[in-house]
Amino acid sequence: MDDEEIPVHDLRTDRPTPARMYDYYLGGKDNFAVDRDAAEQVLASAPEVRVLARENRAFLGRTVRFLAAEAGIRQFVDVGTGLPTQGNVHEVAQAVAPGSRVVYVDNDPIVRAHAKALLPDDGTTAVVEADMRDPGPILDHPDTRRLIRFDEPVAVLFMSVLHFITDAEDPYGLVAAFRDVCAPGSHLALSHITPPERGADGAESAADVYKKRATSPAVLRSPKQIEAFFDGYEVVDPGLVNLPRWRPDDPGAARDAEAVWMLGAAGRKR
Ligand SMILES: C[S@@+](CC[C@H](N)C(=O)[O-])C[C@H]1O[C@@H](n2cnc3c(N)ncnc32)[C@H](O)[C@@H]1O
Repeated sequence: MDDEEIPVHDLRTDRPTPARMYDYYLGGKDNFAVDRDAAEQVLASAPEVRVLARENRAFLGRTVRFLAAEAGIRQFVDVGTGLPTQGNVHEVAQAVAPGSRVVYVDNDPIVRAHAKALLPDDGTTAVVEADMRDPGPILDHPDTRRLIRFDEPVAVLFMSVLHFITDAEDPYGLVAAFRDVCAPGSHLALSHITPPERGADGAESAADVYKKRATSPAVLRSPKQIEAFFDGYEVVDPGLVNLPRWRPDDPGAARDAEAVWMLGAAGRKR
């Protein structure tokens, strides 16, 4: 990896980060030995985590396509972006509506460095390095102000990221802070890990690896707790469901959906 512009201390090569572990599950190359080791420990408890990661990316793609094509959204704030991979938000949105604008937000410096190198140089996207636990600086950031008009509908995405925020850190309050600045007709879309119906021990052990080793713990939340993020929104069909069940491109492919212990939904602000 060539990350000379990031101070080594900021890179946290001593501890696994969620962004780099996720990159490893997806088969990416932007990870270190410490990330691979922790990710392998997760996979030893819950081998299906690789499938979850892939299903999550597919869900993200379908949701953004829905938001751009059916909900008419032209501006997106993608909170907890992750390392660039295939089907990034601006690529999916701009395939439907060229010129759609995207602000990417992540607190891992490696995400900013890689995203900056890979984002198009056409003024439609920006990457903001910030912690979502403090929404104010994200909403006030000059790049956010340049790209996003909060008096027009916006989609705010929290894909596979709210489970890195503990209850003590007020995940509901931070989602509400974004909701409160968005115009009616704006949308919220999110995915979140949940205790599986089968194999709950494996999921708990996997979450435990994050708690003990990574820079953030991982919190499994019940469907009711996840639904509560949509306070102030009308959840669109099919509601909060296991990811493969959310508007699948191929309905036959959603057969073993319960094995994917991640739920997702999208909602429209009233
Ligand atoms: C599992 S990845 C998900 C990436 C992408 N959203 C997706 O669904 O494919 C979680 C991302 O959230 C970021 N993240 C975790 N905690 C965060 C925080 N407090 N503020 C901003 N980003 C955070 C991580 O750095 C990582 O890139």
